[in-house]
Amino acid sequence: MNDKIKILEEKIEKAKLGGGESRIEKQHTKGKLTARERVHFLMDDGSFEEIGALVTHRSMDFGMEKQLFYGDGVITGYGTIHGRLVYVFAQDFTVFGGSLSETHAEKIVKIMEMAMKNGAPLIGLNDSGGARIQEGVKSLGGYADIFYRNVMASGVIPQISAIMGPCAGGAVYSPAMTDFTIMVENTSYMFVTGPNVVKTVTNEEVTAEELGGASAHSTKSGVTHLTASNDIDCIEKIKRLLSYMPQNCEEKPILEPYIIGDEIRKELDNIIPESANQPYDMREVIRGIMDEDSFMEIHESYAENIVVGFSRLAGRKIGIVANQPINLAGVLDVDSSKKAARFVRFCDCFNIPLLVLVDVPGFLPGTDQEWNGIIVNGAKLLFAFSEATVPRVTLITRKAYGGAYDVMNSKHIGADLNYAWPSAEIAVMGAKGASEIIFRREIKAADDPAAKLTEKEAEYAEKFANPYSATQRGFIDEVILPHNTRRKLIKAFSMLKNKVDKLPKKKHGNIPL
Ligand code: HXC
Repeated sequence: MNDKIKILEEKIEKAKLGGGESRIEKQHTKGKLTARERVHFLMDDGSFEEIGALVTHRSMDFGMEKQLFYGDGVITGYGTIHGRLVYVFAQDFTVFGGSLSETHAEKIVKIMEMAMKNGAPLIGLNDSGGARIQEGVKSLGGYADIFYRNVMASGVIPQISAIMGPCAGGAVYSPAMTDFTIMVENTSYMFVTGPNVVKTVTNEEVTAEELGGASAHSTKSGVTHLTASNDIDCIEKIKRLLSYMPQNCEEKPILEPYIIGDEIRKELDNIIPESANQPYDMREVIRGIMDEDSFMEIHESYAENIVVGFSRLAGRKIGIVANQPINLAGVLDVDSSKKAARFVRFCDCFNIPLLVLVDVPGFLPGTDQEWNGIIVNGAKLLFAFSEATVPRVTLITRKAYGGAYDVMNSKHIGADLNYAWPSAEIAVMGAKGASEIIFRREIKAADDPAAKLTEKEAEYAEKFANPYSATQRGFIDEVILPHNTRRKLIKAFSMLKNKVDKLPKKKHGNIPL
């Protein structure tokens, strides 16, 4: 028996070495941790249980039968993060560049299915040269097996993808279908076709980093939700992100202990500038309302005219969608609509209540926006809010103009409670624009047209640039004092905690994708 135990121990030791010491050293030289080190730092101490450590590939071509590495380039298993069960796979770049073989894919599929059956999040740490070139179509089949499970798991369990090395070709579609992607700066990239193909097809000269590095995807494409400065930072961000989520769609996020005090926040009285055209940072409003240091922004550098992220309010996890007046005056455009719609959908999947902060002058005009489909993209956000059945609370801090008023979680599309600050202006458009249209003749005929415009503007503003017309109709439930906002919202979300809302029976809606 002792011999048999020794054989097993030797195999396990060998598996731990992945592709061997020299390749591990190469990985470290690039500033990257190995797959095993990543899993070690991600999971609670001693909690990780590996599944399939002794799996090897079945390839017999190109001398592959002589190159067998235990694990076949991916570490898979389960364990806990802050005491909560999660499933993880970590691609091991030291084994055939982390490339995906038939067996590598089977290992990932196995834990994906376990994660779904047992209702726990799935975390993928990607670091791979793509399809195992020696295996051809078997590898492609393996990718598709994973893609299919990504889709089946969507909305059932949270799925998080970290990109910690190469992720190219069709391989990018698995992360793209998960809920969140985090890219490590300078050591990771994602693209469908790399710089060489780009050069051949379009004659563009571009580096891998420029084409698909963390910076490109966090600012230009929005493919990545978060970036990290290194592997450890990436792992810390995964843990933080998970802390806002429930285990699966049947659960609610855990309520953190919190003792309620007076909850008055005087600083909120001084955020809105005197002039309606002066910007302010909506993050200050978020900070003033939510629990200290609890805001985790998502897509921070992409479509900055809208802010989305997770936070806590008296210990309750909340998703926030907020127009951002310091960027493009907080206007809704193609990218901000898509960004916010995706976030709303995630929160609704996983029972995370929504707080919507509104200061929006409308949709962005122009050929660029129209030709890029502001109509269907704006409709995504309208659709996402309308279909969301989680508790939904809106606060209008200043402007809520035109169609954007309707879209930004108005009462009419199913919000539960709609508040406004006294500074709110709820109208079809700004007073100046409105006066120029409806008093055009009167202004033109006046001895002093400029003075007439000012007079009419003031008249219009007095009538509509306030929250009271909407309040009289019940479109706004209450005009509240800024310093009282946190208190009101704590009570509102507590009241809504057992909300039950059902959509009409259907196969699924047809969101304008
Ligand atoms: C098999 C691979 C591999 C692959 C890398 N390796 N990619 N083995 N299949 N796809 C092996 C290398 O032979 C090498 O083995 C080790 O991994 C490390 O690779 P290096 O090239 O030394 O590393 P580096 O210089 O860091 O370059 C990394 C890389 C490069 C940029 C990823 O390896 C590369 O371009 N690989 C090929 C990428 C590719 O074309 N993949 C297929 C894409 S098509 P040794 O023994 O020396 O350690 C695809 C389709 C997916 O993925 C479709 C899904 C639907």
